Amino acid sequence: MIGMGLLEAIPESTLLGFADENDTNKDGISGKLNYVHDVASNSKKIGRFGWKANQSNVRQQVAAAFLGDMGIITSLFPNENAPFGVDLTAIANGGTPEISDINFERVVLYSSTLAVPARRNYAKQSVLKGKKTFETIGCASCHIPKIKTGSNHFIAALRNQTIRPYTDLLRHDMGADLADNTPDLKPQE
Ligand code: HEC
Repeated sequence: MIGMGLLEAIPESTLLGFADENDTNKDGISGKLNYVHDVASNSKKIGRFGWKANQSNVRQQVAAAFLGDMGIITSLFPNENAPFGVDLTAIANGGTPEISDINFERVVLYSSTLAVPARRNYAKQSVLKGKKTFETIGCASCHIPKIKTGSNHFIAALRNQTIRPYTDLLRHDMGADLADNTPDLKPQE
């Protein structure tokens, strides 16, 4: 949950710079962006959240979680998705939408701004040694240690921040041994 808004504030151009689907730079690492349907703008956007980068922003991720995990409809996802065979008319209805826009936006704000804890012991010799190993054996090629957020996120506090996300927000083929074969989930439309 931490740092979500900061990941959202990474400029698209930065992510396009990371993407290298066919390993054209020959560093042994390939990774691609997921382009997904952004419901609010009704357009294709870079996916950043969810198991396989299938939600474009925190707001949509939160609305999808309300709907999918708790069965609560929002103005973004106004249609119930009852499990097969469940008769919704037999179940108490919480209104339309079931969470007011103001409360929904509060959850989005909370989810976007929950702070990342400060780094610990980063000047310690053993930590620095680990940092170096992490970089030299190639972990940092995918787990990008340092990124700068852009200057136009709608939450001012998230702009122009140097962050340490340890992700490139790309999808990587991690090989058969790490594949869980989860099909890619399309955001509810
Ligand atoms: C090819 C890109 C790539 C490289 C290189 C890579 N990782 Fe990862 N790593 C991933 C991906 C993708 C995931 C997420 C897998 C998932 O959630 O299914 C991950 C997950 C992890 C996690 C779990 C994080 C969590 O929150 O559960 C750790 C820890 C980790 N990697 C450490 C390392 C270390 C240490 C190295 C270097 C030895 C390394 N990784 C190299 C892509 C990479």
